[in-house]
Amino acid sequence: MPKVTIDGKTVEFESGKLPYHEHGKPESLLDVCLNFGMHLEHACGGNCACTTCHVIVTKGMENLSELDEDEEGDRLQMAPGLTLRSRLGCQCVVEGDVEVEIPSWNINYVSEGGGSMNLGDAIPAPVGKK
Ligand code: FES
Repeated sequence: MPKVTIDGKTVEFESGKLPYHEHGKPESLLDVCLNFGMHLEHACGGNCACTTCHVIVTKGMENLSELDEDEEGDRLQMAPGLTLRSRLGCQCVVEGDVEVEIPSWNINYVSEGGGSMNLGDAIPAPVGKK
């Protein structure tokens, strides 16, 4: 029964029993979020074609599926504020307890009901770009 904590909210599910919501890999962090009504941006629908589902793993990195070529090589490198603990929520499958944070610049304040805001320089440049 993996426990997933996202920004302090914890849910638990039985591996292999989570209904699939057709976005991202089955039982990925995004799929868990969709099942439990937790918001995680996913502009491309979980197809590894954006970086809006970028999360930073604070505990349990070893309990996520390994980075594959699509996630690591093609997409994750484009994520603003990339860290060694970064993953794409739609691509990493939960295999055990994990805790993640959603970077503040990834939160869509409009869809979260907070209105729009100008983040300006708060959004870091992608790695390798200035
Ligand atoms: S939702 Fe677009 S890459 Fe994850």
